[in-house]
Amino acid sequence: MQLDEIAEQILACRRCPLHQHRTRPVPGEGPANAKLMLVGEAPGRFEDKSGKPFVGAAGKFLDELLSIAGLKRSDVFIGNVVKCRPPNNRDPLESEIKACSPWLDMQFNVIRPRLVVSLGRFSMDFFLEKFALPKKNISEIHGQVFKVDTLMWHGYFVPMYHPAAALYRGNVKEEQINDWKILADFIKQRL
Ligand code: URA
Repeated sequence: MQLDEIAEQILACRRCPLHQHRTRPVPGEGPANAKLMLVGEAPGRFEDKSGKPFVGAAGKFLDELLSIAGLKRSDVFIGNVVKCRPPNNRDPLESEIKACSPWLDMQFNVIRPRLVVSLGRFSMDFFLEKFALPKKNISEIHGQVFKVDTLMWHGYFVPMYHPAAALYRGNVKEEQINDWKILADFIKQRL
């Protein structure tokens, strides 16, 4: 299956109650041969309106972070763990993440990136479990590079803070910029 076929199915998805509240699902976007897959949490208000990932304030900061790493949006695949906006931007429920996760698994299997960067703790938790890595707090492991060697995939995983966290806490912004500078070096040397 191709990414656009998966996206079409996501547009018709009713696997969880979030479909009742959405304006548009946000399947994610980017090339199928992207080396880097960035995965956030769930669409917010502007994403729900446009059907595109990270187009609000957090998205603007994400663009800055990408440019620190020498990347453009068109180079990477950007998606979310949950494809429909939770009402009032509340945290996604475990049941919603579970219902939605087959879509992300399918996208991952098509792209087979070299590097996965999670944005925020929900996405981090998803990939720590997927890659059979021990569960940790994001404050302990943000910015660290994990080498993943499983039967199904070999690559790298880097959990990052969610870009929206920088909008609320100034010190997190500095930490994020620093993490992305380190990621830039890693990308230059290893990808
Ligand atoms: N926050 C996310 O996690 N994803 C988006 O697409 C937008 C904001």
